[in-house]
Amino acid sequence: MSAKLIKGTVIREEILAELRAETEELKQKYGRVPGLVTILVGENPASVSYVTLKIKTAKRLGYNEIQDSQSPDITEDALLRLIEKYNHDDDINGILVQLPLPDHIDEKKVLNKIDPDKDVDGFHPVNVGRLMIGGDEVKFPPCTPAAIQEMIVRAGVETKGAEVVVVGRSNIVGKPIANMMMQKGEGANATVTVVHTGTKNLAEHCLRADILIVAAGVPGLVKPEWIKKGACVIDVGVNRVGEKISEKTGKKIAVLSGDVDFEPACERAGFITPVPGGVGPMTITMLMKNTMKSFKYSLGLL
Ligand code: GUN
Repeated sequence: MSAKLIKGTVIREEILAELRAETEELKQKYGRVPGLVTILVGENPASVSYVTLKIKTAKRLGYNEIQDSQSPDITEDALLRLIEKYNHDDDINGILVQLPLPDHIDEKKVLNKIDPDKDVDGFHPVNVGRLMIGGDEVKFPPCTPAAIQEMIVRAGVETKGAEVVVVGRSNIVGKPIANMMMQKGEGANATVTVVHTGTKNLAEHCLRADILIVAAGVPGLVKPEWIKKGACVIDVGVNRVGEKISEKTGKKIAVLSGDVDFEPACERAGFITPVPGGVGPMTITMLMKNTMKSFKYSLGLL
C-alpha cells in the first residue's frame, strides 16, 4: 500500500483535545460551558447509538448536555413546542433533532423550527443560504462536509486550484461540500465538478480529480482505475455489507465498506480515508465544534 491514510480517529482526538481545553478556559473566564440538546423521537437502533455517542462526546468535553428522548407517538405540534422551548433556553447553544423522524411528523417543518443560530447541524435553510454565500456569513457548516474539509486541510493536501470531483449530490454531503470547496479561503478555492446518477462517463470525470470525494452510498462504486495517481480520495460511504462477531465484545457487529474499492485504490491514491475510521468518527467532532462556535457567539466572542 502506498497511499497515506487520513485517519479520522486520530484527527478526532486532536480536535477534541482542542475543544476540551477551550471549554475549560471559557468556564474559568465566564462560569459557563457550551450546552447541547439532542432530541430523539422513538427508538430506532441506529439513531439511539448515534445519539448515545453524541452525548458521550459532549460529556467528555465538559459540555452541558441534555438527551431529550420522546415517545414515537409524540405529535408534530408537541415536538414543535419542545423545540420552541429550547430555542428560548439561554443554557442551550445547540439543538439537534435526530433524523429520521416517524412518518407522521413533517421533517422539514421540524428543521425549520430550530432557531438558525442554534442549528448546529447546519440543516436550516438560513444556514444553507449562509453556506452558499460563504466567508463570514457561514455560521454552522454541516458536520460531514465540515469533517471532509478539515481532514483535507489537516492532511496538508493543497486545495487551491485543485480539481475536486464530488460523486453524489445529496443535501447533507454532495451539495454542501461542492459549495464549500469552490469558495474563496483556506481548504477551498478549488475547481469543482459534481457527478451523479445522471452523469455520463463517470470514470472520465473521476480520473481528472486531484481530490475525489465520494458520497454515493454504493459499495465499491469507484474503481481503482478511476483514480488519478497520487490523488486524495475521501470516501464518505458507510455501507453495511455483512455481519461478523466482534473480537472485543463477542457480539454481532456490522461489516462496513466504503464507496471506493479500498485495497487496490491504496495502490494509486496519494491519500485515502479508510472505512471505518475515516470520515465517520469526524462528524460528531464537527458537531461539537459547531456547538462551541454557537456558545462563543452567545458570549459575544465571535
Ligand atoms: N441522522 C443521521 N445523521 C444525522 C445527522 O448528521 N444529523 C441529524 N440530526 N440526524 C442524523
